[in-house]
Amino acid sequence: MQLTGSRALVTGATSGIGRAIAEAFGREGAHVLVAGRDAARAAEVVAAIAASGGTASPVIADLGASGGVAALVEAAKAHGPVDVLVNNAGVYPVRGTAQTDEATFEATMNLNVRAPYFLTAALAPLMAAQGRGRIINISSIAAHLGTDNMGLYGASKAALELLTKSWAAEFGPSGVNVNAIAPGPTRTPGTAPMGAGLDEFTSGFPAGRPAVPEEIASAAVYLAGPGAAFVHGATITVDGGRTAI
Ligand SMILES: NC(=O)c1ccc[n+]([C@@H]2O[C@H](COP(=O)([O-])OP(=O)(O)OC[C@H]3O[C@@H](n4cnc5c(N)ncnc54)[C@H](OP(=O)(O)O)[C@@H]3O)[C@@H](O)[C@H]2O)c1
Repeated sequence: MQLTGSRALVTGATSGIGRAIAEAFGREGAHVLVAGRDAARAAEVVAAIAASGGTASPVIADLGASGGVAALVEAAKAHGPVDVLVNNAGVYPVRGTAQTDEATFEATMNLNVRAPYFLTAALAPLMAAQGRGRIINISSIAAHLGTDNMGLYGASKAALELLTKSWAAEFGPSGVNVNAIAPGPTRTPGTAPMGAGLDEFTSGFPAGRPAVPEEIASAAVYLAGPGAAFVHGATITVDGGRTAI
């Protein structure tokens, strides 16, 4: 078990990729703080982690709302020091620029950039004071590609990847490793509305299919574990080869 004795806060852990990361961390021995807005689904994830022999606690907050980040930080700190922060909660609007209103712009930037920014601002200095910590930002290959209908989403993730490098520069010297994962299309409750469209979209990729959330979680376990001690400011692309071709 790679994460025994550590405490990991995973945002968006009530669904999809975040849930898979939370469950994988639980199997690796971390105490997992399962963050989301939906208390019932958080309780389900906590129970799933307990069923596989791990331990977890729910921490409920709306990261898009004013005061939501501060509320989550307080709820997390009540359990003790956070050793691993996974900034995973995100939204991915799919629409053209002229069809995007200011409310969508603000909601996307609030959850995808502002929340990770202020969670890191609150928790990274505490990790630095301990002389160790891990921060893992969940980006997207949309940050690396020009697309006609995901410019806002891609820009929010490109911001998160630049922050990954900046935070590596800022907190790395104090023993905090900050890295990112850029998943390709992944089958989750969030992408469920795409149905078979996701299979068609990914059929030409080297892997020929969308990811399952556990395949993204494997990279998060690596970045949180001892094997990634020398990895700083990196983005690991886990996209079935999409950006290789
Ligand atoms: N799925 C993909 O194809 C894909 C590909 C590349 C990157 N990603 C990235 O991976 C991450 C997870 O994606 P996913 O597909 O697993 O998402 P998902 O199934 O839609 O789940 C989203 C999670 O974010 C939480 N969340 C949403 N709004 C929130 C808010 N205002 N405050 C707090 N939590 C909030 C949700 O929790 P509650 O509902 O409990 O609030 C839920 O746990 C996102 O950052 C996404 O951009 C996904």
